[in-house]
Amino acid sequence: MSNTPQPAPVAEERIELKARNVSFAWENTPLHWIPGDPFAGHTINVLHLLLPAGERWFVHVYKQVLPLITDERLREDVIGFIGQEAMHSAAHDDVLPHLKKLGLDPTPYTAQVDWLFEKLLGDRTLPPGRARRWWLMERVATIAAIEHYTAFLGNWILNAEKLDRCGADPTMLDLLRWHGAEEVEHRSVAFELFTHLDGGYRRRVRTWATAFTALAFLWQRGTRFFMANDPTPTVGRASLAAFYRAGRAGMLPSTPAMLRAVPRYLSRDYHPSQEGSTAQALAYLASSPGAGGGR
Ligand SMILES: [Fe+2]
Ligand SMILES: [Fe+2]
Repeated sequence: MSNTPQPAPVAEERIELKARNVSFAWENTPLHWIPGDPFAGHTINVLHLLLPAGERWFVHVYKQVLPLITDERLREDVIGFIGQEAMHSAAHDDVLPHLKKLGLDPTPYTAQVDWLFEKLLGDRTLPPGRARRWWLMERVATIAAIEHYTAFLGNWILNAEKLDRCGADPTMLDLLRWHGAEEVEHRSVAFELFTHLDGGYRRRVRTWATAFTALAFLWQRGTRFFMANDPTPTVGRASLAAFYRAGRAGMLPSTPAMLRAVPRYLSRDYHPSQEGSTAQALAYLASSPGAGGGR
């Protein structure tokens, strides 16, 4: 464990984390589910490419970590987190056949993402002992860094009113908001787990840098992949300028907001409970059609 002083979480009522059963009917969701803005839609669609393998990987790593947790409440949170992430992975996976039916086969890209998480970030054949523990802690810290961004994106999608105003597909919005709300709900778990097992500041910075670079690379590549393979000839091309414009228009997270999230994670006072609102997330989850809200 680290001797680095750790910030206290913002006081909030502790909630029991549990996976919610969801179901989404995709038949009426068009390929360009944000009307008039295929670029923004495809940028968000990259989630369906990365998350099935990425969140399966979270679950795989955390199952190895469970025996190391000595705090019973944290252990319960991690078990709830595992259940939620497994459900997220499956729900995003279910979108892929629909995209294929609409003429956009994601398989060439998802095959590469699967390789990344299963082989490059997999267990490796390390002997028991320091090397194996080091690699496990690197992955635990990496998940904490990624979860900073899933919470950021979750908070963004819950508040992205522009998508409602422009007539974005309600089923896709519900999938994203159900997922985003659970990301906000469990936003402290990965960081608290990292703090409990290691918490080293240099490791936090190093794994953040790797995660940020990898995510930026995979995301721009995924968006280019979708734009290049979209069967509609007029969609245009992916570019940084288009990303910046869509952020300014409220169709995507804004570039300044994303940049401001960097020093927050790297601050020694960081705790994820300082970001987003649990009350807002729970209110959405209580009304989400896909999660059975109002049923
Ligand atoms: Fe998730
Ligand atoms: Fe998460």
